[in-house]
Amino acid sequence: MTYITDAKVVSHRRVAAGCRRLVLAAPDIAQAVKPGQFLHVRCDGGTRAGHPRGAPTSVGRIGLGWVGSADPLLRRPLSVHDADRERGTVTILYRVVGRGTGLLAEKRTGERVNVLGPLGRGFEPPGHPRQSGHPCQPGHPRQWVGHRRVAIVGGGLGVVPLFFLARELSVGVPPGIQPANAGTPGHSGVPRRAVAVFQGARTAAELDVVDFSILPVDLFTATDDGSRGHAGSVVELFLDTVCHEPVDWVSAAGPPGMLRALAGALETLGLSGEFSLEERMGCGIGACVCCSCRIGTPERWEYRRVCADGPVFPAREVVWE
Ligand SMILES: Cc1cc2nc3c(=O)[nH]c(=O)nc-3n(C[C@H](O)[C@H](O)[C@H](O)COP(=O)(O)OP(=O)(O)OC[C@H]3O[C@@H](n4cnc5c(N)ncnc54)[C@H](O)[C@@H]3O)c2cc1C
Ligand code: FES
Repeated sequence: MTYITDAKVVSHRRVAAGCRRLVLAAPDIAQAVKPGQFLHVRCDGGTRAGHPRGAPTSVGRIGLGWVGSADPLLRRPLSVHDADRERGTVTILYRVVGRGTGLLAEKRTGERVNVLGPLGRGFEPPGHPRQSGHPCQPGHPRQWVGHRRVAIVGGGLGVVPLFFLARELSVGVPPGIQPANAGTPGHSGVPRRAVAVFQGARTAAELDVVDFSILPVDLFTATDDGSRGHAGSVVELFLDTVCHEPVDWVSAAGPPGMLRALAGALETLGLSGEFSLEERMGCGIGACVCCSCRIGTPERWEYRRVCADGPVFPAREVVWE
């Protein structure tokens, strides 16, 4: 189910230069959302002027109409960074880059933001409760029933949706658990966890925008300037590490150059995975086709819509320009 709602701002704060974390009260979306899905956010001031529309309403009943300011006209796609199903909140984390995100940055606690979501197809690593038919009811913590060690690889702000994925996959996993098919302990001698996160950024300050260290995951970091972790690309770090500590599946998001390099690494290693892609969006619901990307093989591909068919696609099916 997709909802359109005027969500109240619960908190909105700066987390780093040019980046902000926005927590919204949106109980229906918080219950329904899966890691990798996104919200289509109205950034104009329409609700601030006292627009009367209130309760969450399904898209089917209300349509996509909007009364109030229509500048900018188009909604902005922003990934769900986290969701608290009990409190009924969703969190987004974004960089202020242009008019839309600039206006969004002005929203204060108590004001409302009109959001449409959850949209798109999210991450589906094998062994996750969603695929195994585990009865994970809304409001109940999900339990790990998988038998795989999942690598989560992110670059820059691509890590935003990966935090939600890492939290959902690692919750309920006792520290030091060995995934059934993950082989021997890591070369450090410490038992590996079921989720390994590889986080890359330009600088240590950029790494701090998303703090994976609060999750029960194995964390590997890389910075371009060498200010923390491996000096160089996160894909190099991933390749070096998985030679010693194998993984079974890769979920990734980040800049196209990083994903392209990672696709090559996965092919070399014979590993499967999934990538979250970004394209400029108009409608966000599959109607305008302006977010098309090429999916298939270099010889035989077809256009697919990132907003409705993605944003997450099988890694080996992405055809790079
Ligand atoms: C599925 C998805 C998830 C995203 N998640 C995040 C996130 O979690 N955090 C974050 O900081 N950014 C995210 N982005 C990028 C974000 O949507 C853009 O930075 C934002 O739309 C820029 O809007 P603007 O008005 O400030 O900038 P402008 O440059 O003024 O935007 C002009 C137009 O271009 C579109 N646009 C610009 N950049 C992008 C982009 N990279 N992708 C898609 N459309 C774009 C806008 O929607 C708008 O229609 C995501 C993009 C997609 C497609
Ligand atoms: S944004 Fe309209 S089809 Fe994807």
